[in-house]
Amino acid sequence: MVKVAVLGAAGGIGQPLSLLLKLNANIKELSLFDVVNVPGVGADLSHINSDATTETHLPSSKEDKTALLTALKGANLVIIPAGVPRKPGMTRDDLFNINASIIKSLAEGIAQSSPDAFVLVISNPVNSTVPIVAETLKKHGVYNPSKLFGVTTLDIVRANTFIAQLYPTDSKPTDFNVNVIGGHSGETIVPLYSVGSTGKLYEKLSEEQKKTLINRVQFGGDEVVQAKNGAGSATLSMAYAGYRLAESILKSLTSSEEVVECTFLNLVPEIKGAEEAKKLVGGLDYFSLPVKLGKNGIEEVKYEILTKISDDEKKLLEVAKEQLAKNIEKGVSFATQ
Ligand code: APR
Repeated sequence: MVKVAVLGAAGGIGQPLSLLLKLNANIKELSLFDVVNVPGVGADLSHINSDATTETHLPSSKEDKTALLTALKGANLVIIPAGVPRKPGMTRDDLFNINASIIKSLAEGIAQSSPDAFVLVISNPVNSTVPIVAETLKKHGVYNPSKLFGVTTLDIVRANTFIAQLYPTDSKPTDFNVNVIGGHSGETIVPLYSVGSTGKLYEKLSEEQKKTLINRVQFGGDEVVQAKNGAGSATLSMAYAGYRLAESILKSLTSSEEVVECTFLNLVPEIKGAEEAKKLVGGLDYFSLPVKLGKNGIEEVKYEILTKISDDEKKLLEVAKEQLAKNIEKGVSFATQ
């Protein structure tokens, strides 16, 4: 019996994400929370004849905390796309001031109502919002780092698509699963094209092509922000990416097959391989790396990939580390002040 709660379910990401979740046969209850419009979204989804039941929760006022707590009660998995999206000219970091407070209040609700749930954070800037959730849960004494995930899957999805576009006759986007490590904002995003399924094709590219490809993955979100021309940032591809991670987590709960996904996680000693990873990334407390998923969440960090990267990727990593340290610190100090 799996209950999934979506916080920010009426938004551009929340709606298509909720639709995908409604179609998942492993989910029995879909709990939708938002501060606007959520009854309509729920009514609409509830007409789909899939197994998951749909319930909606809308606060009656700014002071009403009950709606959130009821939405979260008994949830096994909580996905957070609540917040404001980017407009042209904004970086993900520019969203910090608004989204940080939203995330903190939602994390307080999780601490109170669903402390054992898996928590997937989509709201940007992920490099800072994930530390906010961690610190808030810690403050309430309910923090389990194996169950906290920053969703960076869209960077992987884009990395797969963009390299396939360079080889339209020899490949399909579904041929690849590029490891994208680091963070989820601009130069903190480090696609590892030189290792794994893309290694041979990547080698064939000129230095200029490689640079353009890396840059496209790092700033792919800007293509969408510009094309939407003031109407927001990626929603459909982001919903797909968030769903892919949620689906992998649900799969690891029910099957014995090995499930590995990249996610932005807290590198703490309780997680196997995290200490090794932390040493290799210059002591950062959070970083996106491939992880093995299991019934209790993140079972192991696949840090070995960090020892196989090319010299160029090492340089990208150096730039990423410096920016990430600042983003992480910003989140931690916001939550602990
Ligand atoms: N609690 C719950 N929902 C909230 C809250 C809150 N405190 N504050 C805002 N929301 C809801 C909004 O009402 C809206 O329905 O979050 C939803 C956000 O939707 P959009 O404005 O359409 O934004 P979206 O494009 O979905 O992006 C949301 O995800 O990828 C990130 O950068 C993106 O941070 C942004 C977030």
